Amino acid sequence: MHDFTYKNGELYCEGVAVKAVAQRVGTPFYLYSSNTLVNHYRAFESAFAGAPHIICFAVKSNANGALLRVLGREGAGADIVSGGELFRALRAGIDPKKIVYAGVGKRRDEIEYALKMNILMFNVESGEELQAIDHAAKEMHAKARIALRVNPDVDPKTHAYISTGLKENKFGIPIERALEYYQTAKGLPNVEVVGVHLHIGSQITEVQPFVDAIQRVVGFVQTLKTAGIVIKYINIGGGLGITYKDETPPHPKDLAKAIQPILRQSGCTLVLEPGRALVGNAGILVTRALYHKDSGEKKFLIVDAGMNDLIRPSLYEAYHEIKPVVEADSAVRTTVDVVGPICESGDFLAKDRELPEVNQGDLLAVMGAGAYGFSMSSNYNSRPRAAEVLVKGNEYFVVRERETYDDLTKGEKLPRWLIG
Ligand code: LLP
Repeated sequence: MHDFTYKNGELYCEGVAVKAVAQRVGTPFYLYSSNTLVNHYRAFESAFAGAPHIICFAVKSNANGALLRVLGREGAGADIVSGGELFRALRAGIDPKKIVYAGVGKRRDEIEYALKMNILMFNVESGEELQAIDHAAKEMHAKARIALRVNPDVDPKTHAYISTGLKENKFGIPIERALEYYQTAKGLPNVEVVGVHLHIGSQITEVQPFVDAIQRVVGFVQTLKTAGIVIKYINIGGGLGITYKDETPPHPKDLAKAIQPILRQSGCTLVLEPGRALVGNAGILVTRALYHKDSGEKKFLIVDAGMNDLIRPSLYEAYHEIKPVVEADSAVRTTVDVVGPICESGDFLAKDRELPEVNQGDLLAVMGAGAYGFSMSSNYNSRPRAAEVLVKGNEYFVVRERETYDDLTKGEKLPRWLIG
């Protein structure tokens, strides 16, 4: 469910007309509904209320400070993968006791920063990283709480680029070898083993891959116990899918119902790291139609948002529904490629899409753009990144200004021999 609906033929976000925002802010821009975001978060909270749990929002899906603050106020923690995300999460007031830090390439300065902030735990992805964390903690006279990310070798049945729980992926430690790693970790003086982490992939639309993976991990936690290693947290990562087109992903309640009985045996606190399921359908990208073009082979609709704003279609052939902001009067529909202004053939938002008649200057909404939208955007072709706007009820606020041309050259300097 989301709060982007038509009223009298015009698209609204909660009580705000999308067109009105476009007139004030210009295009393209991201528009988020705080109500949708909060409802999605609460759906997770109530689904898992029956047992101890922490919901750590995957900051990579949307790092905007206002959205992080909305979630933080609801009680969310954060799943981070860089020093930058730690900075953002703390700045948004998220409790470091609810921050977990994953990623295969943590730098020493990032590890030190996280130790200094005393985050809940590191999700460690390799033996060498484990040693690096131990060394850093020693120098800082700290103890690093850690979980090892195990790879349960389960097929999440999603796009290959966003599947992470198979052996061929770079993530985690193969579950068959994980016991050795845990024994090593236990022997390290500056590390405290507290958890097991897994994340099998993203945009998962069935419960079964989660059940399979969690069953393997709960079995492994039992093995650890026998070996004298007691685990307090089982972190099942993120990955719950959303509806982009016609997918019918499980509701958090369905997920909870399927996995809680398995987890209960372990007596551990559950950590979840949802990103897309919280924010994906809480945001849209609003763009304006610029030109029509007909190559003889194909009809193109050129709009003012491109792959630099939303890369998912280009990168994963991802489907995003495109809707007119003002519904068309005529029933005429044409099949077009919706393309952006970037100088790449791969710059498209939709291919062979049947759309109602779109005139030059019309506004279009690219749906389901709240997750991995702005956070993956870039300045390619020297395009300033889009504005981000947050709606609450009948009000909206620009929570990130559109970048300016000066922003594009921020930090650039000339050597003396090029001046004058
Ligand atoms: N935890 C870990 C360790 C992760 O690697 C990820 C996502 C998440 C949690 C959150 O997953 P979610 O609940 O959002 O599925 N850019 C791609 C998705 C990449 C996901 C990377 N990891 C996309 O646009 O589909």
